[in-house]
Parts: sequence; C-alpha cells; structure tokens
Amino acid sequence: MARISRTSGKPAATKGAAKSAAKGTRAKRATPETIGIGIIGAGGIAQGVHIPGYQKLSNARVVAVSDPIEASRRGASEKFGIEDAYADFREMLKRDDIHAVSVTTPNFLHAEATIAALEAGKHVLCEKPLAMNATEGQAMVDAARRTGNKLMCGFHYRFTPEIQTLKRFAQSGAFGDMYYARTQALRRRGIPGWGMFINKEKNGGGPLIDIGVHMLDSTLHVLGFPKPIAVSGQTYQKFGKRRDVLGLMGQWDYKNFTVEDFAAALIRFEGGATLTLESSFVANTEESDKMTFQIFGDKGGATYNPLKMYTEQNKTLLDITPVHLPRNVQAHHAEIASFVESVVNDTPVFTPGEEALQVTRIIDAIYESSERGAEVRL
Ligand SMILES: NC(=O)c1ccc[n+]([C@@H]2O[C@H](COP(=O)([O-])OP(=O)(O)OC[C@H]3O[C@@H](n4cnc5c(N)ncnc54)[C@H](O)[C@@H]3O)[C@@H](O)[C@H]2O)c1
Repeated sequence: MARISRTSGKPAATKGAAKSAAKGTRAKRATPETIGIGIIGAGGIAQGVHIPGYQKLSNARVVAVSDPIEASRRGASEKFGIEDAYADFREMLKRDDIHAVSVTTPNFLHAEATIAALEAGKHVLCEKPLAMNATEGQAMVDAARRTGNKLMCGFHYRFTPEIQTLKRFAQSGAFGDMYYARTQALRRRGIPGWGMFINKEKNGGGPLIDIGVHMLDSTLHVLGFPKPIAVSGQTYQKFGKRRDVLGLMGQWDYKNFTVEDFAAALIRFEGGATLTLESSFVANTEESDKMTFQIFGDKGGATYNPLKMYTEQNKTLLDITPVHLPRNVQAHHAEIASFVESVVNDTPVFTPGEEALQVTRIIDAIYESSERGAEVRL
C-alpha cells in the first residue's frame, strides 16, 4: 500500500527525520517534506483551482494528471509543467510517489475514482457533491474507513473568513438556540452551457446538487450538523427545456435538459430546528447570483454574504457585524492547503466525507420527496 510511510527509507520520506536526527532531536515521525499529488480529471476546476492551489504550497507537488481527453491532460501538464499525464487514472494510481489525489471529474465518476484511489493507498480530496447519491457516498466513506485513508469533500465556502467567523460565534453560544435557518443558492439566468450540469444521469441533479449543496453544507456546518429527521421538497423544471430563455452562462442544450431548474425544501431536525432551502439555475428573482443563508437563534442571528450579525442587549437591538476580517483569503486554496496539512500531519480533515454524506442524504431525500409528493422520514 502506498500510504505515507512512517518508517520507509525513501529519501523524500526521511529527509526531515534525518535532519532532526543530525540535530540530535528525536523525529516525531517520518512524513514526506513534500507529498506527491495526482489529479483525476483535468478540466475546469482542476486547472482553475486545484493545480494552482497545490502549486502554491511548499509541501505538495503535482506529479501527474489523468484525463481520457488528450487535449485536457496534455493542456494541463504543459500549462502547469506537470511531468506525467495519463489517459487512465488507474494507471496513475499505481505510482508510489503519489500520496494524495484530487478527484475533479464530473459527479458520476466521483465514487468510482475516489474508491479506486483510497484502495490504492491515496488520500482523497473529492470535489462537491461527494457523490451522485447516498448509496455511492456511503461506499466512499466505507472505503476511507476500511483503508484508513483520508476523504475530504471540496466544500470551500467553509474556508471563507465569514463562515469561519459565524462558526466561531455559533460554537461559543453567541446565537443561543439556533432554531431556524434559511438557505439560498439562487441564479437568475445561470444554466451552465458546458459540462454535464444539465444531465441528471451524469450530474445527479441540477442546481440543488450543484450549488445548493454548498450553502446547505455551510449552513449545517454553522448549525453543528444537527440530525435530520424529515425532509419535504419540491423541484421544478420551468425554464430548462425552453429555447426562448436567456443563457448568461453559455447556451445549454435545451433539448437534453433533464435536471430541475429550481428546488425548494423544508428540513426538520432532531430537537425541533428547521431549515428551508431554495436553489435555482434560473428564476425570476432580483439577485443574479445569490449564495447566502440566515441563522435565527434566541440570543442572536446572522446573515452570510454579506456577513451581518444581530443581537439584543439591555433591551437594545445591536448589529454586531465584525468590522475586520482577514482579507485576500482564496477559499479554494485555503481548502487545498488544509487538505495537504491534514495529510502531512495526519490530522482529521476539515470537511470530512461523513459530513458530506449527511448533506447527500438530505439532497436525496429532497429529490425523493418531490417525486413521491410526500415528506420523507430519515
Ligand atoms: N467547488 C467548486 O467551486 C466547484 C466549481 C466547479 C466544479 N466543481 C465540481 O468539480 C467537478 C468537475 O467540474 P468541472 O467544472 O471541472 O468539469 P469539467 O467538465 O470542466 O472537467 C471534468 C474533467 O473530468 C474529465 N474526466 C471525465 N472522465 C474522466 C475519467 N474517467 N478520468 C479522469 N478524468 C475524467 C473530463 O474529461 C474533464 O476534463 C464536478 O464535480 C463539479 O461539481 C466544483
């Protein structure tokens, strides 16, 4: 198994330990100073975010990419100076100098690629959504447990200073009992004109699984992942199959639009909290691109994006919005740095597969509720 060896004699794995030994200090463990990274799927998010994110780090090196499309894998390897490019990710996974991979394929391949990588001894950062459905997601989480390798899901919003602040305040009790939340991921005219995003079989669904998943995860993170017990949802397909609708994110193939273009849901949690969710690729609404949520607590409340926080003291209403937050945080890059840190230091990942699986279970239940026209008990 090619997991990072704590005892191997490979030069990369023992350099730090050798240095410590020379200084007379006892090495805590022999981890590589620089871990090798493989990329499965060399498309938009890989080239836009993952590869540049790893290349900013001193403790990671992208050694290979894989993509069945020659132009994509060659383009990525030439643009980023990556030594090797594979058509078949299973060939790439045979390399011992790859310790971790990013799975940046379309959704329908997340489970297959992730499980193969985990079983080949690699740690995995899998893009969101974790999987097409909870059955796949459970198999991924099981594979991570079975192999002892790490599985992280690409929920980069959790790395924004705003959501990190909200999480700290929520955890400290500043909002009291958080009994209600409202989550929105709304595009006004944003059906993607590329990729597999309008194909139910390849993407698992539309805006709910593609962008709603981000805000649902972030809201649950701030709420502390309460246990969902019932879900009622409805999806709509009002625009996607029409040719007369403006395409601001490219022109999609309206004849092959098989996903929802709007979804709404009510989620009930153990203990009585509830959450409502709305997500659209296209809707007649004011905002053109709204990724937001609101938290309602009995001591305080908050809105994400823009960040605002509210409370009452001495019978006086106060806005307690922070006046200072860290600037210039690139959340995607922070996510990648966090993943690498977890691998190098053998610490838990910040956005674990188990939590991403809970998000996937809720999404499944929203689709199921809509199909059945009934509340789904979890
Ligand atoms: N977190 C975010 O902000 C964010 C943004 C965009 C996309 N994503 C997610 O990233 C994933 C990829 O999206 P994208 O926009 O990069 O799509 P894309 O279509 O641009 O890229 C996907 C790539 O995977 C490749 N691929 C297909 N089959 C493969 C295989 N068997 N082995 C290796 N590669 C294979 C394709 O050829 C393509 O180059 C999706 O799951 C999407 O939801 C996340």
